[in-house]
Amino acid sequence: MTKETIIENAVSEIFAKLKFSSEPQGLYAPLTYMIEIGGKRIRPRLCLTAYSLFKDGFTEEILAPATALEVFHSFTLIHDDIMDKAPVRRGVPTVYKKWNGNTAILSGDVMSIESYRLIAKAPAAVLPQVLELFSDTAAQVCQGQQYDMDFENMQNVPMEDYIKMIGLKTAVLIACAAKTGAIIAGADSRSCDLLYRFGYDLGLAFQIADDWLDTYGDTSVFGKEIGGDIVNNKKTWLMVRAMQKGGADKTSGLMEAMAMPVCNEEERNAKISRVKEIYDALGVGEDARNEIIRLHACAMESAEKLGLTEDRYGLLHSYAEKLLCRTK
Ligand code: IPE
Ligand code: IPE
Ligand code: MG
Ligand code: MG
Ligand code: MG
Repeated sequence: MTKETIIENAVSEIFAKLKFSSEPQGLYAPLTYMIEIGGKRIRPRLCLTAYSLFKDGFTEEILAPATALEVFHSFTLIHDDIMDKAPVRRGVPTVYKKWNGNTAILSGDVMSIESYRLIAKAPAAVLPQVLELFSDTAAQVCQGQQYDMDFENMQNVPMEDYIKMIGLKTAVLIACAAKTGAIIAGADSRSCDLLYRFGYDLGLAFQIADDWLDTYGDTSVFGKEIGGDIVNNKKTWLMVRAMQKGGADKTSGLMEAMAMPVCNEEERNAKISRVKEIYDALGVGEDARNEIIRLHACAMESAEKLGLTEDRYGLLHSYAEKLLCRTK
């Protein structure tokens, strides 16, 4: 069996086995719902991949923290969907749609607590370091989410601010996943930091790809509604780049589009088409693809600096490659 298959199997197994309390059912059912539908599980996979660069075999010391990363991530999605008014995720109704807003808030809260219960199972010798990284990361995700919302009400967001925002809301958790795996495996601090950087750059690329898919993806594969970012006036990579690249006419076109009403489906579709037309005219979709490739190359530079054997480096290469080709 290849190491990659072993990692794959370990990831499948932990989520097949993961059980939450059953009572009250109204509180815990959404947790089981999110975990059973399952996403791509890129964070636990990265955590186990980073660990296996330094240590063979998986025991509870790494399986529980890897699980924590996915449980925490899934919690952020439950709340994110309320904030983004998103009706569908992972191809099924979002928690606040299937149940209601209050359930999504409280089940999200307890899911975040469950993630702490799991991360706390890291080995005692590294627990303070792992816990501090996890808590710093969790706070940063909230900071990023706040910027994301603040930006909805701004017309022009500088690219630098956008990158800082996605660094916080998305990249730090992926970076944390890589570093946590390395810390628990007992890697030296330079390697831990290089893996953090690897995860961070991949995380930036991952969010830009998410922004691209939100406009150009296929709903049935992506599992989320297309155009939600445009409807919400999100400052995505595409929007920020379009504002940067467009001349006076395109910029004012985008501002007019942002002011378009979105009360019904017809209005929403009109707004999405208007913005997409400008994106297409400016070619920002292709610019995004190029930026994703550039960030992947940056991530691989960090991976190269680790000085790994060919087969171990191959694990990181293959992990990054899968993210680069993602359609969901
Ligand atoms: C969605 O994350 C939120 C972003 C950071 C873009 P994923 O794309 O990893 O979602 P799942 O877990 O696979 O559903
Ligand atoms: C999500 O960004 C980041 C977090 C959930 C922290 P998005 O809002 O773009 O993620 P999706 O597209 O809803 O998955
Ligand atoms: Mg969001
Ligand atoms: Mg969202
Ligand atoms: Mg998105």
